[in-house]
Amino acid sequence: MLSQLAVTALLGLTASAAPWGPGQGGDWGHGNGGNGNGWGGNGGWGGHGQPPSQPENCTQEPFKFPLSNGFPNVEVGSPELLAIEKQAHGTLPNGPLPSKIQDATATTLQLIAFNEIFEVAYFTSLLNNITSGVYNVGSGAAKQIVENAITAVQAQEELHALGANAILQTAGRTTIQPCEYVFPVSDFDSSIALASTFTDVVLGTLQDALNNFGTDGDDELLALIGGVIGQEGEQNGFYRNLGGKIPSQLPFLTRSAGPFAFSALNQMFVVQGTCGNLDAIALPIFSPLTVATQNIQAQDQDLSFSFKTNGTATDTSDLHIVYINQQNVPVVEPLKNVQTQGDTVSFQAAFPFTENLMFGLTIAAVTNSAGPFAGADDVAAKALYGPGLIEIQ
Ligand SMILES: *[C@@H]1O[C@H](CO)[C@@H](O)[C@H](O)[C@H]1NC(C)=O
Ligand SMILES: *[C@@H]1O[C@H](CO)[C@@H](O)[C@H](O)[C@H]1NC(C)=O
Ligand SMILES: *[C@@H]1O[C@H](CO)[C@@H](O)[C@H](O)[C@H]1NC(C)=O
Repeated sequence: MLSQLAVTALLGLTASAAPWGPGQGGDWGHGNGGNGNGWGGNGGWGGHGQPPSQPENCTQEPFKFPLSNGFPNVEVGSPELLAIEKQAHGTLPNGPLPSKIQDATATTLQLIAFNEIFEVAYFTSLLNNITSGVYNVGSGAAKQIVENAITAVQAQEELHALGANAILQTAGRTTIQPCEYVFPVSDFDSSIALASTFTDVVLGTLQDALNNFGTDGDDELLALIGGVIGQEGEQNGFYRNLGGKIPSQLPFLTRSAGPFAFSALNQMFVVQGTCGNLDAIALPIFSPLTVATQNIQAQDQDLSFSFKTNGTATDTSDLHIVYINQQNVPVVEPLKNVQTQGDTVSFQAAFPFTENLMFGLTIAAVTNSAGPFAGADDVAAKALYGPGLIEIQ
């Protein structure tokens, strides 16, 4: 008898993309699925290098809410909520919610809601691709393991989003509405690798939430966030395992900061101008930083980057690149070989892997300061371009 663990380990090897043509799928009723045109150009990204950034001329049909169950508008006590909870293998917390929260807590919860609503979109699309056969994830036990996992995750993310908005609403704060989204992946392996990367960013950002709630006095929310961090970590162990990576990437997961997560979501997934109330979230959106080097290996090397200026002449002499990895002091490097062509600035910078063992997620940002930086929040405060997301296994 084939052990289930062996089946799971094999999934990463057997899963492959089914050819996708217009006319397939799309029967799930949520406006997702897309038409599959124009989404090449992700070559080489399978969780080894950096995630693809959103193509400028994307023709993918955007994912639109609401879901068929009404999400994100689901009432407490409704049969729809009960169905989500059953699918999620558990309930929303049923204790009383705080009637008052600090401003920093509100912003943090708004970012969490914004992210979780995106995750519902992503995992709804992913689940649809698995069940409708757009993604070929094998058959029998192997397919069932994946489908069971993502089915639960899809509903669990709905509860995360509803929970964050419920706290905001109870405390008299602005709740977050959805956007339309595109997903720069069209095969199963890349989709799981991308899920792993954005979950890494979430896991780093929820550390920021703990820090905010702990320092601004809203410490009644700390345990809840701790529960969510563990939950997202369980998910990520599965995604990493599917991709043939060790489940636990680092001894201490990489720290992020709210502005990096907010910027990454907006740069990579959100269709500009489609959000219900983006302005309600008091966080900056940085300009994108492209990590041009593909398939980044675990070694010292110069990495290539680029960013687009917004037309104003950019003085690059004051700029530095900063790497945030694990719980270590951010690493600052100068820009080398800076070249400007039209509105694109490209450069290289040393990536000191060996000295710092920069496995897992590294967040890169171009700052207008050489630091030194105490942590991710200080980097975000001086960031102009970012985050560049680097994954090393
Ligand atoms: C985007 O697509 C349109 C329509 O196909 C085309 O006219 C335009 O040149 C494209 N723009 C870029 C930057 O590729
Ligand atoms: C689902 O498949 C469509 C069609 O290939 C693709 O455009 C979309 O990005 C996929 N969604 C996910 C989350 O992988
Ligand atoms: C252009 O970039 C500069 C430097 O990052 C910034 O100060 C300025 O506000 C930007 N202008 C626009 C129109 O975005």
